[in-house]
Amino acid sequence: MAYDLREKIVFITGGALGIGALSAKFFLDEGVKHVTVTDVNDSAGKKLESELNSKFKGRMKFIKCDVTVDEELFGVYNQIINEFGFIDVVINNAGIMNDSIYKKAIEVNFLPSNYEGTGVRVITMCYGATDTSLLSKDKLASFEREINEDLYNFVHSVPLQRADSAAKSLIEVCKQGESGSTWLSKNDLPVEDVTPLDFVYSIFPVHNLFCT
Ligand SMILES: NC(=O)c1ccc[n+]([C@@H]2O[C@H](COP(=O)([O-])OP(=O)(O)OC[C@H]3O[C@@H](n4cnc5c(N)ncnc54)[C@H](O)[C@@H]3O)[C@@H](O)[C@H]2O)c1
Repeated sequence: MAYDLREKIVFITGGALGIGALSAKFFLDEGVKHVTVTDVNDSAGKKLESELNSKFKGRMKFIKCDVTVDEELFGVYNQIINEFGFIDVVINNAGIMNDSIYKKAIEVNFLPSNYEGTGVRVITMCYGATDTSLLSKDKLASFEREINEDLYNFVHSVPLQRADSAAKSLIEVCKQGESGSTWLSKNDLPVEDVTPLDFVYSIFPVHNLFCT
């Protein structure tokens, strides 16, 4: 089943930079009605807002917000709902580099019982190593100090996919993905449906895969 993105109200967390920022542009290219982007990085968010609104007149808004602070996050939801009445698409994109609990996070957050019956389509998107600021020395510093250097060298020893490939994959998945499905975007290849997750876990050590 294909899903039409035109006229949708979109909310992207952590979208001032990287995959989120490119996704905001691609959603607007697809004809969505409005995109709200939040991020803790105020200057990058305001810069993106001014760039996108110069092309997509008033259809993008940046709001500074830390997703770990409930009052801020719920405040943004309320702001969007007050303005538009509803939200069609939420891209839970804000991220930092700590994949040590990736499996538990997926299993806890995406158990079918958590979303079945809600009427909300919930999709997991996994990216192979992608060329964004997330893989810079500054951001990789969130890992154990002892492995920081090795991790940085390891990540940069493999070809990184382009950020626009990751963002285009995300748009494709929003148009095609069924609820409960899991998708993999890596090596600039066409995005792949990797449901069930056993496949993802089985290739994790070999293919340098990270899951959001
Ligand atoms: N780049 C990769 O190789 C890769 C691989 C797998 C998954 N991912 C995931 O993709 C998503 C996008 O990553 P990216 O590569 O574009 O990284 P990025 O660092 O370029 O962008 C992530 C954004 O999230 C924001 N952010 C961080 N903490 C936040 C918070 N508490 N509240 C609000 N915003 C916050 C950052 O300021 C940044 O702008 C992340 O969830 C990341 O974990 C990326």
